[in-house]
Amino acid sequence: MSLEHLSVGEIAVILPGATTVFRRHKIDFCCKGDVLLAKEAESRGLDLSALEAELHALEAPGDHAPAETADLIAHIVERYHKVHRREFPEVIALARRVESVHRDRADCPHGLANLLSDMFDDLEDHQHKEEAVLFPAMLNGIGPALCGPISRMMQDHDDLGALLAFMAELTDDFVVPDGACATWRALYAGCSKLDMDLREHVHLENNILFQRFL
Ligand SMILES: [Fe+2]
Ligand SMILES: [Fe+2]
Repeated sequence: MSLEHLSVGEIAVILPGATTVFRRHKIDFCCKGDVLLAKEAESRGLDLSALEAELHALEAPGDHAPAETADLIAHIVERYHKVHRREFPEVIALARRVESVHRDRADCPHGLANLLSDMFDDLEDHQHKEEAVLFPAMLNGIGPALCGPISRMMQDHDDLGALLAFMAELTDDFVVPDGACATWRALYAGCSKLDMDLREHVHLENNILFQRFL
């Protein structure tokens, strides 16, 4: 998809992580979010192709989950673990900004940044256990001994589900209020993407990968 004819505000909403690129280049996607990317690049003397390449690099790799166990594990790590690691910090930063600037509004998602931060801490711990212990054991053919670790991972997934429900509640199911700024819209788009990715990630583990070892 060509991005040059979209506004920087639109790109901030449809492409999670774009706000990091814009911040790096001092592009104001919030107050001047209606400026087209091509126009913004021209006025700032930036190479449009290079800027577009940076933004396209944020797009997630394909969602097709391979059937073979080793390939499936590699897919889970590349498509989900690494993408969560890249996207959570930016969404947390957006939440802190929205909560700080709009704290007096009744519809401000108070507590969202701390919720996301706690969720990311728990997830990092969980993903590390999968990458360092569980997945290597699966690849080494240690089958029956994995029932205990797998059930602990599934309990973590249930706990994550409860936090996702709380995130949806705080954000009114990711529906931005009237008059919300581009940062607020980018935040809810990022939260919605995290929600979808985390649910798909858990589905691949609970319903496909883990079932092969139970
Ligand atoms: Fe995982
Ligand atoms: Fe997991």
